[in-house]
Amino acid sequence: MAKLPKKRKIKEKRKGKKVSIIGSGHVGLVTGACLAELGNRVICVDNNVEKIATLNRGEMPIYELGLEELVKRNVRARRLFFTTSIKEGVDNSEIIFIAVNTPPKPDGGADLCYVEAVSREVAKTMESYKIIVEKSTVPVETGKWISRTVKLNNKKNINFDIVSNPEFLREGSAVYDFMHPDRIVLGVQSKKAEKIMRELYQPLNAPIIVTDIESAEIIKHASNSFLAMKISYINSIANICEKVGADINKVAHAIGCDRRIGSDFLYAGVGFGGACLPKDLQAFVGITQKLGYDFDLLKVVEKINHEQREFLVNKVRDAVWNIKDKTIGILGLAFKPNTDDMRNAPSIEIIQMLQREEAKIKAYDPVAIPAARGILKEVTYCKDSYDTANGCDALVILTEWEEFKRLDLKKIKKLMRAPIIIDGRNIFEPEKMKRLGFIYRSIGRST
Ligand SMILES: NC(=O)c1ccc[n+]([C@@H]2O[C@H](COP(=O)([O-])OP(=O)(O)OC[C@H]3O[C@@H](n4cnc5c(N)ncnc54)[C@H](O)[C@@H]3O)[C@@H](O)[C@H]2O)c1
Repeated sequence: MAKLPKKRKIKEKRKGKKVSIIGSGHVGLVTGACLAELGNRVICVDNNVEKIATLNRGEMPIYELGLEELVKRNVRARRLFFTTSIKEGVDNSEIIFIAVNTPPKPDGGADLCYVEAVSREVAKTMESYKIIVEKSTVPVETGKWISRTVKLNNKKNINFDIVSNPEFLREGSAVYDFMHPDRIVLGVQSKKAEKIMRELYQPLNAPIIVTDIESAEIIKHASNSFLAMKISYINSIANICEKVGADINKVAHAIGCDRRIGSDFLYAGVGFGGACLPKDLQAFVGITQKLGYDFDLLKVVEKINHEQREFLVNKVRDAVWNIKDKTIGILGLAFKPNTDDMRNAPSIEIIQMLQREEAKIKAYDPVAIPAARGILKEVTYCKDSYDTANGCDALVILTEWEEFKRLDLKKIKKLMRAPIIIDGRNIFEPEKMKRLGFIYRSIGRST
């Protein structure tokens, strides 16, 4: 770790806080870099030695729009530091964010082992008052468990507060989202913690909603499952549109113009993926079940999401006849544009379904190929979209990267063995594709 500045040497325009972030992944690194940018002194901690070494070399372990610049600027300004030592983070900060991963267990519930391990470690090293902030997405009542764990493991009986501060950033626009939140939720148990956390977030000038800890924990799961529900809802409407020759894009636009509904998350496609929605939905179903409530509505949301992948493969089959031995080009692997995150990406399930039917897969993504290599085997990774299209029996669009919208479609058509495009993200206009001579299939629109 680069040396921390001595206390008296820190000069900041606004009196920043001393913060450490434990878990320097998508959320932790963005949170750390953004809080440093706001004038706080931040130590990002991670037990992944390679990740911290990468960061200390000035390289980035993940791709996220604008993050590299932010990290470099704040490292240069000596406001942002990286270490593998939780003790170093705890000793040098008053506010400690827990931003470790909370992956799904086989039964769908959130695995809170990392949260527990960090809570224990923080408790063991705490020498003065700390605010321990739950930033990871966790089931309701986790705050109580963290509190209990800290009390059990802090032999010196040091005073502390737990705050639940769920994160709503979207990968791909994470830095922007962190800096321009619709609201900041603070689940608190003391006025002292509320005051300190309000001061921390004050430069963002965003609405702050203060609740009890349990409400804050439920807000995060309820928000994510609502968004998932919106996606599955519009995908169901898309399937009806397709049957009657209606156009889902026009339907979704008109629905979204109603301010009570809103247009975000109303895009029909191959369903949601990523590190959050699928996992959080499953976890919420699991928690509610434990609490004695059968959340059937959310179970159907999951089912619809899975079916969207199958529908896409059916469209490929309908267009190419037999999938066996066909060369299928995949454009887009990341679960959404502007990120290299492959966690629960629809591309994984879809490519594996095509491979089970013995398709030969070529694929391209502007940034996610290195991440995809570890997950998707027997795939020919290509240098660009044209290289992918070359010799293909069909092209399948799975991520709506801007560069795909600007493709030279005449060139693509010449390169392909057959002019078939299955557009899982509705990035092209059916009429135009027809004029260009493509067999074009999309979601919820007739061709
Ligand atoms: N990714 C998102 O878009 C997003 C958005 C909102 C909330 N969340 C939630 O935030 C949490 C973190 O998600 P993420 O996407 O940043 O995960 P991530 O896997 O990208 O990062 C988690 C990091 O925690 C580190 N870690 C695990 N155990 C540790 C330990 N004991 N000590 C130190 N470091 C440890 C891992 O090495 C990893 O680098 C999850 O609960 C997730 O659900 C994620």
